[in-house]
Amino acid sequence: MAEGTLYEKYGGFSQISRIVLSFYDTLLDNDEIGPFFDDVDMSRIVDHQTKFMASLLGGPASYTDNQLRQLHSHLSITDAHFDELEEVLRGTLSQHGMTAEDIEVVIAEFEKRRPLIVR
Ligand code: HEM
Repeated sequence: MAEGTLYEKYGGFSQISRIVLSFYDTLLDNDEIGPFFDDVDMSRIVDHQTKFMASLLGGPASYTDNQLRQLHSHLSITDAHFDELEEVLRGTLSQHGMTAEDIEVVIAEFEKRRPLIVR
């Protein structure tokens, strides 16, 4: 794995898994975002969160732009949904002790993908 990534700095797989679990709980409880996952198989949701987090932190399981676009093309995700997920992400990372500076790096990675996800 690439050295010096945020993924490594914040403890690699074990710590990231902990962040993912808490992100997952908050997300499913969220009135705006939760419903997107209503009909999605549990294991796919955990898969989503893990790959989502790892790819934003520079860890393994990165996706090409085309793959990301295709994976979300059947969902009507709006800018408002994307913004809401951004807030959930910010909150989760902050709760897990990520520095404000590093959170901004992750949010920038997240924002880069907005045009692929929002329709
Ligand atoms: C940078 C932003 C995002 C990334 C990197 C990302 C990544 C992914 C990946 C890798 C998958 C496939 C998981 C698998 O292997 O099954 C996926 C599926 C999914 N994503 Fe995202 N995602 C992003 C944003 C969002 C947003 C904003 C939403 C909802 C508001 C969302 C909702 C979903 C749902 C519901 C699925 C499952 C689709 C299905 O299996 O039918 N994603 N995402």
